[in-house]
Amino acid sequence: MPYKPYKLLFVCLGNICRSPAAENIMNHLIEQNGLQGKVLCDSAGMGSWHVGHPPDRRMTAAALKKLNLQFKGTARQFQPSDFEAFDLILAMDKENYYDILRLDQQRQYGHKVKLMCDYCRTFSDREVPDPYYGGPEGFNYVLDLLLDACSGLLEELQTQQWPI
Ligand code: 4NP
Repeated sequence: MPYKPYKLLFVCLGNICRSPAAENIMNHLIEQNGLQGKVLCDSAGMGSWHVGHPPDRRMTAAALKKLNLQFKGTARQFQPSDFEAFDLILAMDKENYYDILRLDQQRQYGHKVKLMCDYCRTFSDREVPDPYYGGPEGFNYVLDLLLDACSGLLEELQTQQWPI
């Protein structure tokens, strides 16, 4: 049987803070666990304001300092074809979640859309808070939260629902 990677799409509002952070952290965990090529990650924003922009400078600075990770990527907007192209779509907050579902006009893809915090093991947050208008502590908090959620997600991918 031909080998098919499992495809994850992380989604937030602007695609410059939370979802690129999730994508880059997940890629880091995938590499650490020797799963390159088995799980593929991308990210997108519900809004179009930052299309073509790199991740937010405050987010990249926090990631470099806290995790020693150099974030990569360019913002793009979520598109309806993403429903078919990805196996799992992870919304950073409830607004993103309902905005994504609203674009699923035939109501075919709801089973693919989850809240990122569903995969947290340590944090009890239900949403990844938007750090854009806050101070540096917000970016550090998002990194801690996403590390927890991405670890839980990877564990789930390896152990149960999805054979990778
Ligand atoms: P993100 O953060 O959704 O985590 O990328 C934001 C980035 C930009 C804006 C809002 C949130 N904005 O209003 O431009």
